[in-house]
Amino acid sequence: MAADSTRMLTVGEVARRSGIAVSALHFYESKGLIASTRTAGNQRRYPSLVLRTLAIIKVAQRTGIALDDIKQALGRYPPNSKLTAAQWGEMSSAWREDLNQRIRLLQALRDNLDNCIGCGCLSLQQCPLRNPQDVLGEEGSGPRILERHVREGT
Ligand code: FES
Repeated sequence: MAADSTRMLTVGEVARRSGIAVSALHFYESKGLIASTRTAGNQRRYPSLVLRTLAIIKVAQRTGIALDDIKQALGRYPPNSKLTAAQWGEMSSAWREDLNQRIRLLQALRDNLDNCIGCGCLSLQQCPLRNPQDVLGEEGSGPRILERHVREGT
């Protein structure tokens, strides 16, 4: 038997069924990721479809997608709508490249960290983590940070 998608849930029921703390649900709602209605007694009620939205939020967060990006992706669909497998497919494909970019960045950081293990110099001239891509060197020679402080009076 299919679940009743029109059933309304209390915040406690949503927390229990989603495994997400009530405080996090309130936070998601304050950020516009999920929406509730209020009873005459001003208590929150969520449509049961919110559980699917929360599952998507949890999966996306687990892969490191920022809440703003999740909100933007969910914003393409009506609030509390039942997202189809195809819509989830669109969303997850869009996040795949973002995930790949972060993996490449982390691999580069890991490789640079290999150079630092056992070194300890933290040199602006030589340490790839302290001064990635020698960004300061591109500004010219000399004590770039000191000169910047002097120039800006800080
Ligand atoms: S600490 Fe020496 S290269 Fe990074």
